[in-house]
Amino acid sequence: METTRSTSIILDTDPGCDDAVAIMLAAKQACLNLKALTVVAGNDILPKTARNALAVCSYLGLDQLTIAAGMVRPLVREQVVIKGIHGENDLANLEFGEPTIKLSNKHAVNLIIDILLSAEEEITFVALGPLTNLAMAIRLEPRIIPKIKRIVLIGGSYGFGNITPAAEFNIYADPEAAHIVFTCGRPIVMIGLSITERVLVTKEVMEKIGSINNRAALLFSKLMTFYNRANHRFFCEEVSPLYDPAAIVYLINPSIFTTKPMYVEIELKSAQSYGRTYCDYYGTLNKSANAEVVTDLDSDGFWSIIYETIKLYG
Ligand code: BDR
Ligand code: CA
Repeated sequence: METTRSTSIILDTDPGCDDAVAIMLAAKQACLNLKALTVVAGNDILPKTARNALAVCSYLGLDQLTIAAGMVRPLVREQVVIKGIHGENDLANLEFGEPTIKLSNKHAVNLIIDILLSAEEEITFVALGPLTNLAMAIRLEPRIIPKIKRIVLIGGSYGFGNITPAAEFNIYADPEAAHIVFTCGRPIVMIGLSITERVLVTKEVMEKIGSINNRAALLFSKLMTFYNRANHRFFCEEVSPLYDPAAIVYLINPSIFTTKPMYVEIELKSAQSYGRTYCDYYGTLNKSANAEVVTDLDSDGFWSIIYETIKLYG
């Protein structure tokens, strides 16, 4: 139910195991008013990410949610998808029945524009995948820019990369779109790979959430059992970083995050560093910061919000 103090959000996603958990959280928190779910090509091609959004939301009984499919490919570069980590179907190879929810007839980019232009309240745009949909909406209808309260995104890194040594996947998958978003002038919260060690799904986390007896917890456990095994080669044990839910946890309780204002530019020309978020950590360029970059988060606080939110499912 919408409350006066709720934050209205558009959630843009490319499910994906960790996206699925983020959707689970966003849909159930009374402090968030989820206006729509918009889907983008990212972890996989659009038909698969859109199908997964419908599957997860149908499974969770989120029948009232508007879900729209958006851009089928990045703005400029060839599409790059993730192989293996999320499973063949990008949802841990789990089988879902026929979705009860249908896609909106609107293209996600038009839906984003319509929601923003007609909204009386401020809207936060939450991005869990490549930034193609938002960038396209900004280019198509620049009048939406002042209507965006802020952009909370999962992506980037001021250190190492995860898809190349220099770049994080969501930014690398559409650097030109990221450039449009990072130069649009609205406040940005960038939650990147600095949180990797803080959001690992450990055995203890699996046990705690596994002790909840509802559909959401069951889905969490099945997704994460697969995801943990798939990430074994990176972490040398069965754990995995649960990135995307961090954006939702941030909206619920930003005080558990440490951020630092930085000037961030997207590398578009270098062959080796294409898609890198070039972050001026020490302010050496003397340029105004365009992003609050997350540098740390309180792990216990993070998991406790996830646990309490999953418990809300009946
Ligand atoms: C991002 O990559 C994707 O595979 C995840 O869903 C997440 O959004 C982390 O780099
Ligand atoms: Ca994602």
